[in-house]
Amino acid sequence: MVVVSPFSNADVEAAYSIFKQERINPWSLETFEKSALNDISLVAKSNDAIVGYILLSSVLDETTIEDITVDSTQRRKGIARILIASSFDNARAAGQEHVFLEVRESNASAIHLYRSSGFELIGERKNYYEAELDRQHPELVSNKSSPRENALIMKKVLSPLSAN
Ligand SMILES: CC(C)(COP(=O)(O)OP(=O)(O)OC[C@H]1O[C@@H](n2cnc3c(N)ncnc32)[C@H](O)[C@@H]1OP(=O)(O)O)[C@@H](O)C(=O)NCCC(=O)NCCS
Repeated sequence: MVVVSPFSNADVEAAYSIFKQERINPWSLETFEKSALNDISLVAKSNDAIVGYILLSSVLDETTIEDITVDSTQRRKGIARILIASSFDNARAAGQEHVFLEVRESNASAIHLYRSSGFELIGERKNYYEAELDRQHPELVSNKSSPRENALIMKKVLSPLSAN
């Protein structure tokens, strides 16, 4: 069973090691820790082991998903969906109305996740990310001399009810 809770200090290092495995230029541990321990970011555990996390920030009536990562051995079990649903519930309980995020244009699995969670595409930032040259879709790299990748901006409007 997957249990979702706010981060405790003891959760940060294990979550950071999941984060680092996925990033070309990972944030420092200090930056990750500050985001994780902000009282709204969430960690998912199975049998007391960390299997994923979602980093969130919040301003006025808006929540932003800064990052979501599930351990590579634990994917396609619905863990990201549970983390997102918990974030929606908490945001609604805090009176928030919108959730925003940015995602790499080539990140098909995350885009599927977000669309199926009710996010809609609202914009694009050209050449926003440093491109990951070994990714499966090099055609999406828009500037080959200084490789960059577009960011998609997505938004979810939270219903005031408990349904997602
Ligand atoms: C994106 C990610 C968080 C999904 O985590 P997950 O726990 O495997 O996702 P779930 O099992 O909850 O899947 C929920 C939905 O996401 C979509 N999805 C997840 N992985 C997918 C894949 N590899 N291909 C296509 N769709 C995928 C599907 O719609 C899935 O629903 P379904 O299983 O009913 O078809 C995970 O792949 C990950 O950590 N990726 C690396 C980090 C990353 O890119 N984070 C996003 C940063 S913006």
